[in-house]
Amino acid sequence: MALLEFKNTSFTYALNNTKTLTNINLEIEEGEFVVICGPTGSGKSTLLKLIKKEIRPTGKLEGQILYKNQDLNNFSLKESVETFGLVMQNVDAQIVNEKVYSELAFGLSNLGYDVSTINRRIAEMSNYFGINNWYDRSTNNLSGGEKQILNLASILTMQPKVLLIDEATSQLDPITASEFIQVLRKINQDFGITVVVVEHRLDELFSIADKVVVLNEGQIVAVDKPREIAKKINDEKLYLNFPLMLRVAKKINAQSYPLTIKEGKNLLKSFSNKINLLDVKENQLGSKLIELKNIYFKYYQNQKDILSGLDLIIHENEVLSIIGSNGSGKTTLLKLIARLINPYYGKIKLDKKNLKKYNNKE
Ligand SMILES: Nc1ncnc2c1ncn2[C@@H]1O[C@H](COP(=O)(O)OP(=O)(O)O)[C@@H](O)[C@H]1O
Ligand SMILES: [Mg+2]
Repeated sequence: MALLEFKNTSFTYALNNTKTLTNINLEIEEGEFVVICGPTGSGKSTLLKLIKKEIRPTGKLEGQILYKNQDLNNFSLKESVETFGLVMQNVDAQIVNEKVYSELAFGLSNLGYDVSTINRRIAEMSNYFGINNWYDRSTNNLSGGEKQILNLASILTMQPKVLLIDEATSQLDPITASEFIQVLRKINQDFGITVVVVEHRLDELFSIADKVVVLNEGQIVAVDKPREIAKKINDEKLYLNFPLMLRVAKKINAQSYPLTIKEGKNLLKSFSNKINLLDVKENQLGSKLIELKNIYFKYYQNQKDILSGLDLIIHENEVLSIIGSNGSGKTTLLKLIARLINPYYGKIKLDKKNLKKYNNKE
């Protein structure tokens, strides 16, 4: 018996004429790590929302969704909240409390659990995540990655049977996103919780997933193990977001489908005589446009420096990419250049003129 089963499920949003999901048949087994992918608008988020009846969109649902052979329509609100935990894309919209501890307690206290159970469950989960020392922190001051870990920990205090993850890494930088995905894998392995992840960035997920579901225009195109999916899907629009190594394998018509960088490297070695590298010309940089010199910045007095002694020159014509983990100061740097905030030490010049000397309109 499947843990979760869609049986001929179709869904039409209220006010829409056409079905957003058509005849979905899908079985998810207990303990599986399932990845649902597909282009934007293919119905991935809708599919997840249908599982949680308390956030189910209004519209017409046809067919059935079963949990352990029981129709989800017969679930009470409490059962639904406790069985299915959902983490979504928008990091901030999911956090409602000012302090981390209250956030961790929020779900359980709404469900009417007594204080000692709540405290015990919070202690267990925060030990697991190593976040005991966050209790008194203000949720506002957490980085994006920390916020998603808090969301996850808060949900896990309710001991859900199925974790639903809807593009939860889309606002995270690559390194933090990768850490988040590894945490999901660990939760799946340590607790045996069934994990259903909706993503369009699939780089790491293919090497973790037990099963991949490919959606397109509201229909399931394929359900299979990752390597089989890689073999089966030949429509470029559908494999566009597959891991880079798989896209390369597809393009060069390789007969093997690498899921990890290591496998990909081996594949490329065997192809090295057949690959011609393009001759890429260096872009000619223009003159200095923006110059940051010895910049120091912090948001409030007792804070440690967010930027300390930063030097950067940006040229005309340049496409510059600023990367770094969450909290490393990327946004702060852009805000300084846009003069939304000012450094407490150092100089910023635009076109050789001190940024302070421009008027607001300029
Ligand atoms: N609240 C809504 N009302 C009407 N149509 C919607 C609503 N939300 C999503 N849709 C439509 O349903 C389709 C699938 O959307 P969605 O499930 O968000 O796809 P995905 O998550 O794969 O990007 C899209 O065509 C979208 O425009
Ligand atoms: Mg979506």
